Amino acid sequence: MAFPQTRMRRMRSSAELRGLVRETELRPEKLVLPLFVSERGPEREAIDSMPGVERLSISAAAREAAEAASLGIGAVLLFGIPAHKDPEGTGAFDDEGVVQLAVRAIAQHAPHLPVITDVCLCEYTDHGHCGVLLEDARGALTVDNDASLELLARTAVSHARAGATVVAPSDMMDGRVGTIRAELDREGLHATPILAYSAKFASAFYGPFRDAASSAPAFGDRRAYQMDPANGEEAVREALLDVQEGADMVMVKPALAYGDLIQAIKRAVRLPVAVYNVSGEYAMVKDAARAGHIDERAVVLEILTSLRRAGADIVISYHAKEAASWLT
Ligand code: PBG
Repeated sequence: MAFPQTRMRRMRSSAELRGLVRETELRPEKLVLPLFVSERGPEREAIDSMPGVERLSISAAAREAAEAASLGIGAVLLFGIPAHKDPEGTGAFDDEGVVQLAVRAIAQHAPHLPVITDVCLCEYTDHGHCGVLLEDARGALTVDNDASLELLARTAVSHARAGATVVAPSDMMDGRVGTIRAELDREGLHATPILAYSAKFASAFYGPFRDAASSAPAFGDRRAYQMDPANGEEAVREALLDVQEGADMVMVKPALAYGDLIQAIKRAVRLPVAVYNVSGEYAMVKDAARAGHIDERAVVLEILTSLRRAGADIVISYHAKEAASWLT
């Protein structure tokens, strides 16, 4: 039927009709709040590049998690900032490490809140790379894939033993999902799901995070293990490989420039897909809002809804608390 029989405006004429035909729902339970937990330092410490986000002590993180739970947020995602760093990132798999202690503290304060832990070495290594280093034939330092796998698997097991609900490897080493699954199973941790950061790009949008977690690489960059932002087919392949290796959920990261891949991966994997609305994306919105250029609330809800529309089941965002409070 052609115009004027077809009038798309008919179903937009009132808030009630718009509600009736709205395709995408954004609810607090679909949101995940990242938390930075620091082993040292004050209870709460502002992060300059991320207005409204703080580095938290273990007890402050537990209180923050309880607040997230009371807002109906679906889960928290923990990042640890250790007091001590070394070449192998041993703090990552220390059973008394900062994330392990935070997981236990959160279990006390918010017993039903799912706790996802980021599994990576970059916050724990003194060189800031996501695995252990190896000198290649020409004398250049590279990240040793297979040696890193063992440490990543130890980290995941340690997190799961501490009570993490879900482990989320973000290192981009090949084979880490399979290795982690095998180690978890060997330890009897069959029930712990893996959320794989499958399509994680070597992005300039991580700048504020690296400042927050002091995890910027001391030399070079992450392009030899994180993905090239130009590659979409490869992102789908990464996700499919992680599914084969036993991932229970997969992730696309960053979010805003990668909507096509959220959709493509959602169609390909037939598993829950998470998207990570990263630190640089958050900082841009906060700065534009502070400058009075945009309506923060409207922009945030538009962004988060668009990620759900693109196909994300789960949206990880530093806006989660504010968004949840606006949605309830
Ligand atoms: C690495 C990790 C990073 C982020 C999450 N996990 C940083 C990186 O790869 O350099 C970025 C998150 C953000 O920017 O909000 N463990």
